[in-house]
Order: sequence, then C-alpha cells, then structure tokens
Amino acid sequence: MSKRKKIALIGAGNIGGELAALIARKQLGDVVLFDIPSKTNFAKGKALDLEQNSAILGYDASITGSSDWKDCAGADVIIVTAGIPRKPGQSRDDLVATNLPIIRSVADGAKEHCPDAFVIVISNPLDAMVYEYKRRTGAPREKVVGMAGVLDSARFQLFLAREAGVSVKDVRAMVLGGHGDDMVPVLSATTINGVNISKFIGKEKLDAIIERTRKGGGEIVGLMGTSAYYAPASAAVAMAESYLLDQKRLLASAVYLTGEYGYNDLYMGVPVVIGGGGVEKIVELDLSADEKEMLAKSAKSVQGITDVVKASA
Ligand code: APR
Repeated sequence: MSKRKKIALIGAGNIGGELAALIARKQLGDVVLFDIPSKTNFAKGKALDLEQNSAILGYDASITGSSDWKDCAGADVIIVTAGIPRKPGQSRDDLVATNLPIIRSVADGAKEHCPDAFVIVISNPLDAMVYEYKRRTGAPREKVVGMAGVLDSARFQLFLAREAGVSVKDVRAMVLGGHGDDMVPVLSATTINGVNISKFIGKEKLDAIIERTRKGGGEIVGLMGTSAYYAPASAAVAMAESYLLDQKRLLASAVYLTGEYGYNDLYMGVPVVIGGGGVEKIVELDLSADEKEMLAKSAKSVQGITDVVKASA
C-alpha cells in the first residue's frame, strides 16, 4: 500500500492558503501549513477550514497547521512563501532586507527536517531568495527551483488571448529571465497553437502587452494593496505536480545556472523539464539577438540583488 505524499507549505498566508486548497483538491498529498509561532493558531484555523471543506468537495488529504518544524519532517515537497509581500509602490527588491533573514531561517529548518524534499521558493525577491536557499542548504540544484516563469508566462498568455480574441488554452508562451521588470518574453516561441503570434497581433500592441506583463505583479499590488495569490499558487502547484507525478513538463522556472545561456552562479528563469528527478533538463533556446540582449539586461538586475545577498552572508 503506498503512503500519501507530504507537502509542507512554509508560510500560511494568502499564497499558502490557496496552495493548500489546490493541493487538497488535486489530491497530491497531505499538507502541513507551517508558520511562525505567533501564527500557529491562524495556520491551524486555516487547516481546519480546509479539512472541513473536504467533506463537501470529497478529498482525503489531511491538512494540519503547525509552527513546529518536526511536523514537516520527511516532506516530499516544500513550497516556501514565508516573508512579507509587496505594498503599493514597492519593488520586489525592496523586500530583500526583511525576507533575507526569513529565508535563512526557513533554509535551516528545512535542511534539518526535510533534506530530501523538492523545494519551490516563491518568496520575493524571487531569484535572490532561491539563490540564498540553495547556498545556505547546499542542496543540489535539481532539488531547488524558484516559481516565477510559469506565473509571468500565464499573465502574458492571458493578455495575448484577450487581444487576439482566442482561447487562452491555445496560447503558448514562455517568459524567461529574472522575476522583475526586465523579464524576457520569448516572442519567437510565442504561438497560438503553433501559429506565430505575429499573425494575430501587431508590433505596437505586442509591445504594450509585454510592458503590461512586466508590470503584471505591480498592477495587482496597486489594485489590492498586497500581492497576487491565486495565479502564483496555481503556478507553483503545476511545478509540484510535475515533480510528484513525474510529468516531465517544460516549465519556465528559476534554476541555478552553471554556464547555461552564458551565466554562472546565478538563479534565473529558463525553460526546465521538471520530473521525478526534479530539474531533469535545462533547455537552451536559440534566442534572437534582441532576446539575448534583453536576457543580459535582466541577468544584470538579478546579479545586482544576488550580490547584495552574497555580501551579507
Ligand atoms: N517561517 C514561516 N512563515 C513565515 C516566516 C518564517 N520564518 N516569516 C513569515 N512567515 C509567514 C507570515 O507570518 C505570513 O503568514 O509568511 C506568511 C506570508 O503570507 P502573506 O503575508 O499573506 O504573503 P503572501 O501573499 O502569501 O506572499 C508571500 O510570496 O509572492 C511572494 O512577494 C510575496 O514574498 C511574498 C511571499
């Protein structure tokens, strides 16, 4: 008899709660919603609400709230949202001073209690936080990824679908680079069911959509006063599912680069095959000169914030 998988969600806030709801409905495994001691009851309450939901929706997952790392022991997957989200006017990089000590404490807890887990970091500034998680734990790069590209690509896909007047299901696109205002939508690989996007949308409109995608997170922060959580949670669950079910999906993910695309010792978004082995393949696309230039600009921003993290190590 096979045992259910265990998924530890580090941070029981907005994204953490939506992650738990999705994971339970998809029956990917049992869930531990972990938060700091002052939020133990909050995490327990959310977990109980979600468990009661199972009687209506009909799933079998157990969902527990905790602030004790021992309850996360042996997790197969960890998804990290611990930290504070953006407020209107803030950039993701503005969060580094607050979220750096938090990611370090999470890395220490996870290293001790769940050293074999596949880890997906969501906390911002994403590329620097996932870099620090890997550096601090010494975990292999196959097991530590950052969620950004799936979300940024989803935003891009939605805006393209609306403009082209087609179903979002048929839009294929990948957004690479850092999770910031310099992210790189790969137009050469952007199609509507295989037909290049240039057949549907002219350059001017396309440029406006790229700009809106780059500021897509900020647009929501401006409207809600805090950052998005439904689509970020779905994006991380797609990555977790690909690992747990060995789906081998090709997903834009922040991964530790050791020479790919010409970058070294840096986490940045590139196309990655995620399967039962974790990061099974990093795919190097033939980028156009323009795309390479955009990626270099994005890498420079990511390097800047990563250097801040390294300097305070
Ligand atoms: N360990 C566990 N949880 C922690 C820790 C810690 N050391 N420090 C903070 N947290 C918890 C907070 O108590 C809070 O419940 O992380 C949770 C974050 O939840 P929200 O404030 O609702 O933030 P959320 O919208 O979920 O975003 C979390 O993801 O997208 C990023 O920019 C976003 O960095 C932010 C993160």
